[in-house]
Amino acid sequence: MRVFRARVFTPIADPFTTDSAKSYTYYDDGFLAIDGDRIVGIGDWRDVPRQSSSLTQLGRDIVIAPGFVDTHLHAPQLEMIGSYGGDLLEWLNRYTFPTEAKFRDPVHAAMVARVFFDELLRNGTLCALIFSTIHEEATDIFFAEAERRGFRAIIGKTMMDRNAPDSLLESPRDSYDQSRALLQKWHKRGLLRYAITPRFAPTSTPELLEAAGQLKREFPDAYVHTHISENRNEVQWVHDLFPEAEYADVYDRYGLLDERTVLAHGVYLSEEELELLARRGSRIAHCPNSNLFLGSGLFRLHHTLEAGVAVGLGTDIGAGTTPSMFTTMADAYKVQQVQGISLSPFQLWYLATLGGARALSLGDECGSLEPEKSADFLMLDLKSTPLVALRSERASSVEDLLAGLIFTGDDRVVRECWIGGQMVASRS
Ligand code: GUN
Ligand code: ZN
Repeated sequence: MRVFRARVFTPIADPFTTDSAKSYTYYDDGFLAIDGDRIVGIGDWRDVPRQSSSLTQLGRDIVIAPGFVDTHLHAPQLEMIGSYGGDLLEWLNRYTFPTEAKFRDPVHAAMVARVFFDELLRNGTLCALIFSTIHEEATDIFFAEAERRGFRAIIGKTMMDRNAPDSLLESPRDSYDQSRALLQKWHKRGLLRYAITPRFAPTSTPELLEAAGQLKREFPDAYVHTHISENRNEVQWVHDLFPEAEYADVYDRYGLLDERTVLAHGVYLSEEELELLARRGSRIAHCPNSNLFLGSGLFRLHHTLEAGVAVGLGTDIGAGTTPSMFTTMADAYKVQQVQGISLSPFQLWYLATLGGARALSLGDECGSLEPEKSADFLMLDLKSTPLVALRSERASSVEDLLAGLIFTGDDRVVRECWIGGQMVASRS
């Protein structure tokens, strides 16, 4: 057994439905005990188990906290962050498709994969749901890099067969065959999972969605990862392409909505669509930084939650401009502020950790520091920058401490990352 002594914070329940005082635990002088890949204890230092074989004293400047969970991002778009001008559909055509076409080259894919997982870990993200490109080999490379890092990832090969440059189109048959091969190789291998990943309805013919649905029927515990109702022009386009249905119905018709389905954005969903998603148990990845960057719109968080749809937070790199879940929490706060709603630091931190893990159906495994869960955690350094130190010193409560970290924190705060009881990244 290994014991760490430090401040310890973790969400333990949903602060949108639970009294916020009961939604977390915090120990000013606490401990986290791990054994192998599991958490075996967390509590006040006075109650530490005495048989500890190895003790690490981290001191009061370190907060042990669960790793961040990024519920939606695109690995190949890392290199195009900040591609400015234009809304979603212009941005896809002008920047995104040409960038993704480069991933035909495995050398390029391998280079980006290394930087990508470096950046996630540097920022304290220990679990993520990731789009690759249409390329089978590049997708395999992203999986292999995640495995090499000991990273907990759900990845999928993008499926597309219309409305993109020829170099990014495939036949539904090839899309099915390649997705199936990757799924069989990687799904449930260690910490890795496969997501069946049709890009979104506009780049899919009915035949492609049928192929995706066929895969889902064959592998019901695989994830489905796609986009929905991000932008008004996109929603209109879907109505033109699939005139007989609402956007969510298009996915539902092909059997693509269940509790392992994660849909990015959901800014413009109708009441009927929200009700359908709630009935199917499907999840929304809210990506505030991306929604602001592309000018997509303002996500109605409470409305979505109250409809019974679980929500996680995503960076949506590279429409999102940062891999940082600190900045993403800050942007989620601002997106609600301009709608007259103030989220608490506990609500934001929940969305970035346990809420995200639950949105990915991984809430029993990660997202919080609780006995029997995987020993996935961060060491956050309250002295990492002069500003973080100043802001943390004057924090009047744990709530205020978290608020300070959300708005002044960045990758420099993340001292160490541990996944499954192994240190996977360190600043020192
Ligand atoms: N909708 C379809 N593809 C994409 C993408 O790559 N990024 C975002 N933000 N939305 C999309
Ligand atoms: Zn996206």
